[in-house]
Amino acid sequence: MHQHKEKEIKKVLHDVYDSTSFRKLGHQVVDMIADHIEKVQTDINHPVLNYQDPEKELEFWKQDFSSNSTISEVFRNILDHSISVHHPRYIGHQVSVPALVSGIAGLMSDTLSNGTGVYEMGMASNAIEKIITDLVAKRIGYNTQASGFLTSGGTLANLTALLAARKAKAPSAIWEDGHQEKLAVLVSEEAHYCIDRAARILGMGSDGIIKIPVDDHFRIDTKILDTYYQQAKSDGFTVIAIVGCSCSTSTGSYDNLNALADFAEKYQLWFHVDGAHGGAVLFSNQYQHLVHGISRADSVVIDFHKMLMVPSLNTGLIFKRSEDAYKTFEQKAQYLWDSQHTTEWYHSGKRTFECTKSMMAIKIYAILKTYGEEVFELNVDTLYNLASLFAELIKQRPNFELALQPEANIVNFRYLTAKDENLNAFNSKLREQIVTSGKFYIVQTRLNGNVYLRTSIMNPLTQKSDLIALLDFIEMLVAS
Ligand SMILES: Cc1ncc(COP(=O)(O)O)c(C=O)c1O
Repeated sequence: MHQHKEKEIKKVLHDVYDSTSFRKLGHQVVDMIADHIEKVQTDINHPVLNYQDPEKELEFWKQDFSSNSTISEVFRNILDHSISVHHPRYIGHQVSVPALVSGIAGLMSDTLSNGTGVYEMGMASNAIEKIITDLVAKRIGYNTQASGFLTSGGTLANLTALLAARKAKAPSAIWEDGHQEKLAVLVSEEAHYCIDRAARILGMGSDGIIKIPVDDHFRIDTKILDTYYQQAKSDGFTVIAIVGCSCSTSTGSYDNLNALADFAEKYQLWFHVDGAHGGAVLFSNQYQHLVHGISRADSVVIDFHKMLMVPSLNTGLIFKRSEDAYKTFEQKAQYLWDSQHTTEWYHSGKRTFECTKSMMAIKIYAILKTYGEEVFELNVDTLYNLASLFAELIKQRPNFELALQPEANIVNFRYLTAKDENLNAFNSKLREQIVTSGKFYIVQTRLNGNVYLRTSIMNPLTQKSDLIALLDFIEMLVAS
């Protein structure tokens, strides 16, 4: 009896790792995903999202969990219950539409599961990661003293950059003693909330996050920087860093990086650029002027999973001086490497928050090897040009108001209805109707207290006709 049980257990464990069933299921699932992508690309009436209330969705999966559905059916259901970023009418959050070859690299990364933090646990991915981050460093305009690494998302990368800033600029021996002073960072009030979060995690508190108001184009108002800095000093703060947005999340506005670099130099602050979204213009001849001055930054974040066609999460953090990255974390992990004081490029864990991390580099490399760097330029140019076109289409319709001329691929607008209507509630309701219809996916934001419909054009296969159709659909909703 006991022997029988042991045999069964062994069989299950063998099944878990059976290459024949992996091959069979893999083919089925790849076919299923490919069919799905073909469908959303060719049948415009196919929904972007089959919207379901959260409670109903939970109920669906509870039932599935207790049912005897096959794994193939489960994958089918996941597809049907997920938003399709490959749909040309997905115009919502800033998540890339992954290049399909990058998705295949993802399958490889997950199946091989190399831990990557130490060299042998990711020989290929560590070496490839160096090639990619060196390439980005060169695009930034850094010299050979620069280096970087990949990490899991812009949020974590911005936190890591501010940790490096604190290490470099705070008077105390941070790693040993913690900080004794009141520290602060200067940042645009339009910066992504993760900067605020990072500063709080670093112990700066609400008062240590000094939010600088923006101008009419939602760029940090550089004329008032000095006033805010002097005020912070007289309030007893040691300001360690200034953060520039390339670009901001809500409106896609690019801060004046040269002006921020001048300011940082004047007061010897760390200058960090959050290029999570718009740093991708480094690959574009047409748009790289938007980040003029970026080479003067001490650190730069760029998300490959936003504008560079890579599945999430996948972020580069590049330091102007390589040693700053190594100084950030001074712990010694006896079992991983001999010393934290040496700076080999190939133990990526010495510089990242993460210990184990996925083989992110291969997802980027797969795109570069297949299509070359030019594909990033094509993607950025196509999306930014589409946004300009969309802005013109909006301006041609008297009932619509464009919030501001887009610099990036983010376009905000609202429908202007009769004066006695509450415009904010009206536009929020419109967005809800659009999303639940499944015909388009867009989001919303608040600018100067007003609700705007917010679109990020992320899919280079989105056409002018899709953008016209969105405006027509909104007019139809209003008329009905
Ligand atoms: C400007 C900017 N910075 C940082 C982030 C956060 O990045 P992630 O979602 O990769 O953590 C975002 C996300 O939208 C962003 O737009």
